[in-house]
Amino acid sequence: MAKKITTDLDLIRIRENFPAISSGRIITNNAASTQTTFKLLELCKKLAPLYDNVHRGQSTASIKMTEIFEESYDTIADFIGAESPQNIILYRNATEAINSVMYSLLTEFRDGDNVVTTFMEHNSNYVPWYGLCKEILPRFGVNVECRLINFDKATGELDLNHMSSLVDRKTKIVCCTGVSNFLGTINPLQKIKQIADKSGYEQPDGDRRSYLLIDGCQLVPNLFIDINKLNIDFLVWSFHKMLAPFGIGTLYAKKDILSRLRPFLYGGDMIAEGKVSQEYVGYNKLPWKFTAGTPNILGTILSAAAIRNLLDLVLNPEKNKYFNSKKRLNKAVVKKAMKRIRVYEEKLSSIALEEFQQIPDLYLFGPKDAKKRISLFSFVSKKKDPFQIANELSKEKVESRAGCHCATLAHHYYRLNPPASCRLSYYFYNTSDEVKFSIDALKKVLKK
Ligand code: ALA
Repeated sequence: MAKKITTDLDLIRIRENFPAISSGRIITNNAASTQTTFKLLELCKKLAPLYDNVHRGQSTASIKMTEIFEESYDTIADFIGAESPQNIILYRNATEAINSVMYSLLTEFRDGDNVVTTFMEHNSNYVPWYGLCKEILPRFGVNVECRLINFDKATGELDLNHMSSLVDRKTKIVCCTGVSNFLGTINPLQKIKQIADKSGYEQPDGDRRSYLLIDGCQLVPNLFIDINKLNIDFLVWSFHKMLAPFGIGTLYAKKDILSRLRPFLYGGDMIAEGKVSQEYVGYNKLPWKFTAGTPNILGTILSAAAIRNLLDLVLNPEKNKYFNSKKRLNKAVVKKAMKRIRVYEEKLSSIALEEFQQIPDLYLFGPKDAKKRISLFSFVSKKKDPFQIANELSKEKVESRAGCHCATLAHHYYRLNPPASCRLSYYFYNTSDEVKFSIDALKKVLKK
C-alpha cells in the first residue's frame, strides 16, 4: 500500500486548474508534455482584442502587444536568474534551439576538433552534432569527431572518468542533458562544467575551455535553476513541459557569446533598422538578432504567463499574485516554488520506486534512489513488449509512452530489441493515489 504523503502543495486546488484533470484523465505522460490550465487558455482569448504583430506596426494594439511580448522575455530570464532578456532566444522548440547553436557555431569549428556528448542524450542533442560531424563539415574539408560519454547501465549515472578521458584540447563543445528523459538521472552539472572548463580548447574569443550546452528539457520544469551559479554557456528547454501550450523552446546563452555568434536564421527583424545594402547587413540588438521573421507571439506570452501561473499554483493556488502581476520575478520566490516541486516529486518518486520493486520480471531503468532522479520511470518486462503494455495501460485509463522516447542511443546501449521501453512520468499536479493507480494498472496488465 502506497504511503500517503504530506506536502506543502494544495493538490485539490492545483488540480481544479487543469481542464484535462477535471475531465477525469489520469495524466501520467508528463515527460512528453504537461497539461495546460484554464487560466492560460482564457488569457489567449483575453489577448484577442489586441491581436496584432509585434515590432511591425504603429497601432495601439501592436504597440501594446509588443510591450507584453517583450515583458515575457523578462519573466523567462528571471525564472532562471539570467542577467537580462538579451540572454533569451525563443524558437519553436528545444530541438530547434540546439540546432541553432550548432548552425551558429558551424563556421568556428577547426579541422581536428571534437564534440563530446553522451549515450543518454535525447536525439535532439545528438543528431544535430552527428549531422555536423558526419554530413556538413566534411563537405567543407573540416573533420570533427563526435564522441560519446558512457553511463553506468545499472545506476544510470554518467561515467565522469570516461568524460574526462574524452574531453581534451580539441573539444569545442560538450553537450549533455541535465536530466535524462529515459533514465530520469539528474546529472552532476557542476562536475561536468569543471571537466569542460579544464579542456584548454582555444575559443575564438580567447577563452581556453570547452563550451557547455545543457539540454534542460526535463531539468528546468522540475528543479530550481540559477543560471549564473551554474555558469554554463547554453541552456535549452521547452515550455510545453511546464504548463504552457506547445510552440516555444528556449535558448539561454551567455551574452558575449551571442554577441559574437553568427545568426542562425536570417531575415526580417533580425537586422538593424535601415542597415541592409548589397554590401553590408547590420544585425539588430539582442535578443532580436536571433529572432528572424514574425515570432510565435501568443506562444511567447503564454509561456511567460505559464511561469507565473506555476508560481501561483505551487505557492498559493487561491491567489493569482504572480499571474496578475507585471513585476519582475524575485529569485527567492522562484527558488521556493521550485524546491516545493522538487520535494513533492521526490516523494512521488519514492512511492513509485517502492511499487516498481514489487513487480516481478520488470526492469526499471535509472537510479533507484529518489534523490538522484526525477519522477519519470522507464521500464521493460519479460512478459510483454512496451507497446503492448502501453496500449493495455491506455485501456485501464493510464497514459504512458512506449518507444525510445527519442533516447535511441541509450536504448541500443542496453541492447533492447526492439529499441523501446514503456514510461510513466509524473508532474507536481499528480497525486500519490495516481502514482499507485498507474502502477497497479501496470501490475494488472502484466498479470494478464
Ligand atoms: N522528449 C519528449 C519525451 O521524452 C518528447 O517524451
